[in-house]
Amino acid sequence: MNRIVILDYGSQYTQLIARRIREMEVYSEIVGCGTTAEELSKDMPSGIVLSGGPNSVFDDGAPTVDPAIFELGVPVLGICYGMQLMSRKLGGRVAPGAEREYGKMPIEIMPGNPLFKDVPSTVTVWMSHGDRVEAIPANFERGAVSATCPFAAMFDNARRLYALQFHPEVVHTQYGTQMLANFVFGVCGCARDWRLDSWVDATVARLQKEIGDDEVVLGLSGGVDSSVVAVLLNRAIGRRLHCIFVDNGLLRWREAEQVEEMFRRNLGLDLTVVRAADRFYAALAGIDDPEKKRKTIGKLFIDVFAEEARRFRDCRYLAQGTIYPDVIESKSPKNGPSQTIKSHHNVGGLPPDLKFELVEPLKELFKDEVRAVGRVLGMADELLDRQPFPGPGLGVRILGEVTKEKVELLQLADLRVQEEIRKLPDYKTIWQTFAVLLPVRSVGVMGDQRTYEYTCAIRSVNSIDAMTADWTRIPYDVLARMSNRIINEVRGINRVVYDISSKPPATIEWE
Ligand code: XMP
Repeated sequence: MNRIVILDYGSQYTQLIARRIREMEVYSEIVGCGTTAEELSKDMPSGIVLSGGPNSVFDDGAPTVDPAIFELGVPVLGICYGMQLMSRKLGGRVAPGAEREYGKMPIEIMPGNPLFKDVPSTVTVWMSHGDRVEAIPANFERGAVSATCPFAAMFDNARRLYALQFHPEVVHTQYGTQMLANFVFGVCGCARDWRLDSWVDATVARLQKEIGDDEVVLGLSGGVDSSVVAVLLNRAIGRRLHCIFVDNGLLRWREAEQVEEMFRRNLGLDLTVVRAADRFYAALAGIDDPEKKRKTIGKLFIDVFAEEARRFRDCRYLAQGTIYPDVIESKSPKNGPSQTIKSHHNVGGLPPDLKFELVEPLKELFKDEVRAVGRVLGMADELLDRQPFPGPGLGVRILGEVTKEKVELLQLADLRVQEEIRKLPDYKTIWQTFAVLLPVRSVGVMGDQRTYEYTCAIRSVNSIDAMTADWTRIPYDVLARMSNRIINEVRGINRVVYDISSKPPATIEWE
């Protein structure tokens, strides 16, 4: 299979480069920037990309590149910081910038650079750099120029080395995708051979071979990732997969029943639902500090899961829905290697008597690819398009002490919010919509009666990656229906408010 390897210098856009290339149906993989030529040559890629990064090449301890990578005979594309590194290592001159150049900038393209095939001679590109190349290495040619960059691009066709000072992977760069495609197809000669339907067949076959006659335990959370893992493994090994779903009493309305219905009745999986709600409510009694609540829920989850998993202690494997962004995060220099296990899967801290080997079949896929795999496997859109739901569940959406009564109140309010928001035509573009129960009671009037009841907040945000978020402009009539239904149909809530804060400085969840 064709493969483009990206050395990650820490740019916020590194994942985007990989995604763009995968969208071209070519497999692309991100590796640490310390990867050497020798390591790469063990499984020679079709092409190598050096990503951008936040450092200056002049910083103490700035990440560097093994110069032997330029001698592998494989095409290399340096982007931004990657260009500056390439230039420095091969004898060019990089100058520290007086100030950072950030934003859209027109460039003029010189002839002869295959990266600019079918690209007009003047295009606007996205710049984000401090340093710049002032003299290119021997045998390189100037590829493009801008008002502030004498070398906005450079190339050496003989050695197949290419570099761009700007970011072709972001949408603000006109013809950026064309430039990447020119590299991937024109320069590296890749064929389109990364297809998710063939990935499913190959992965099922690989899982069958690797797992052999052994058995696998899986903590099913009801979320997209673990659900797709369950269906994939079920296809590979049938009832030798044992799924455990913990009903912690903090789930959405009727969620445990729905999971049971879908996975046990419809799909025929071996599923154990552990009904532990009362244990969770007992453990949460009297706690209103949000961090303490999280810790209590997390610890009890592990205890409950471990008790159940002991029934399967002869199983060799534990499956997890780790996906590619989790793997990249855990490899990035900012995070220690201990983060490889997704914390919200909560199986990171299993007791030592439970020694499973991990099976993580989705670990090379992005979220949208996981959904596409789910579709190949015939899973319902309703399940695949689910919004993110925090591991501690409604525990973080009930402010103050969590009790069974409050959970029921919030579940009923949230159900109304979900039913109404789903009617919006652009429902799928919304990142999350949910209800929050505030520990605030106020006076209201219903019929001739005075009421003194709780307040419910509705939260809805649009976001790309949950790092930043803006509140959704839900039409007033939809908000009105949510409010009317909650107040009229849920006894115990007499006031509904809409949260109009963005992240930052607010967060998406309340807590
Ligand atoms: P915040 O509130 O930090 O949330 O803006 C960002 C995103 O993360 C989700 N979230 C969690 N997801 N386990 C999870 O799997 C958790 O403990 C957790 N806490 C928050 C939240 O729903 C939002 O999408």
